[in-house]
Amino acid sequence: MSFHPHAHLLPAALDDLPRIVSACNDLLVDAAGHRLIDLFSANGAAFLGHAHPRIAQALKQQLDAVWLTGGLPTDAGDAARQALETRLPSGLRLAGLYTTGMEAAEFAMRMARVHTGRPGFVGFDRSMHGKSLATAALGWANAPAVPVVHRLPSFADQPPAQVLQQLEDCLRRHPVAAVFLEPVLGSGGGHVAPEGWCAELIALCHSHSALVVADEILCGVHRTGPFLAHAPMRADFAGPDLLLLGKGLGNGFPVAAVAARADIACTAAMLPGSTYAGNPLASRAVAATLAELPALDVPARVAAITEAVQGALAGVEGVVLRGRGALWMIEVASAQRAQSLARRLYRQGVFVSCTAQYLRVLPAATITPAHLAQALGVLREALCAPDQD
Ligand SMILES: Cc1ncc(COP(=O)(O)O)c(C=O)c1O
Repeated sequence: MSFHPHAHLLPAALDDLPRIVSACNDLLVDAAGHRLIDLFSANGAAFLGHAHPRIAQALKQQLDAVWLTGGLPTDAGDAARQALETRLPSGLRLAGLYTTGMEAAEFAMRMARVHTGRPGFVGFDRSMHGKSLATAALGWANAPAVPVVHRLPSFADQPPAQVLQQLEDCLRRHPVAAVFLEPVLGSGGGHVAPEGWCAELIALCHSHSALVVADEILCGVHRTGPFLAHAPMRADFAGPDLLLLGKGLGNGFPVAAVAARADIACTAAMLPGSTYAGNPLASRAVAATLAELPALDVPARVAAITEAVQGALAGVEGVVLRGRGALWMIEVASAQRAQSLARRLYRQGVFVSCTAQYLRVLPAATITPAHLAQALGVLREALCAPDQD
């Protein structure tokens, strides 16, 4: 199928879009002083709200200390590692911090190739792993073909057991280093991997000595409830070998992480370094963001968001709601309808993004209940109303 995640992330007419001059928690303020309730959170990244005061303070202090060391060790780097590793499943450790999710996914590919000595990769339709040639080829039907990347149908489009059969066939025929898995299709329709399916996929890959890269760049860091969306795993199955985090990891400061099984040694052949990798500002953003999580009781906030979204949007005629936690996609009749809805919502003071025939709802965990209720009310009314554009 030709699905193009991120084809039109913002409402179509660019001159319609608000010019943002400031943002605070769940509100965007445009140049005319209008306030918009933000159900977009910068593609889900500003998960603890815009300009979170303690994270901003930590970044300002780091700005006064040191920004960039070219990889020389820093206290900020140690703080990020410690904060992250206490939250990772046992057996995984931080392999590297990078600037974008795509960069992290590319590093995971290099790690897998060197570790296994195999050249190939498998991805699934509708998945989003980045926009470099190789990462785009993992999930996008319209991306240029990359010979070592095999793209299979998604569990959203074929019976999940059949997808695993096709995967097994592929693993038999090709020397695959790693299989990329996005447990909740956060750009590709909001479909959630069926219960137990990720664990079966991991077991299958391991039986063919292929690694599994769980891409939790959007669905991780509590966006879908627990710290990681693919957990809890069935106790009798192993977890992924590599794990990608990003977006909410630095609350919107550009940073992404690769975590790897402790026995997958990071070597020079994996080309781990790059100019901004693990810079002190990004590291500080990670440490400060993770430090905020316990006091905010993020899982409880996400559960309240789930209840509010489902309560407001379930049962609206002609609309399919899919997702989990604070990650929802609303499928409407057409891409044109999605764009027209997004524009209408914007005019009414609510900001959502749209991609293909979907509206995407990604509120911050810290959205106030009043703003969430107000925004969902406007959204429900728009979904129930006939198209006006
Ligand atoms: C699941 C997932 N992986 C990877 C990426 C790529 O991250 P970035 O845009 O930071 O390169 C995204 C971005 O939307 C994503 O949602």
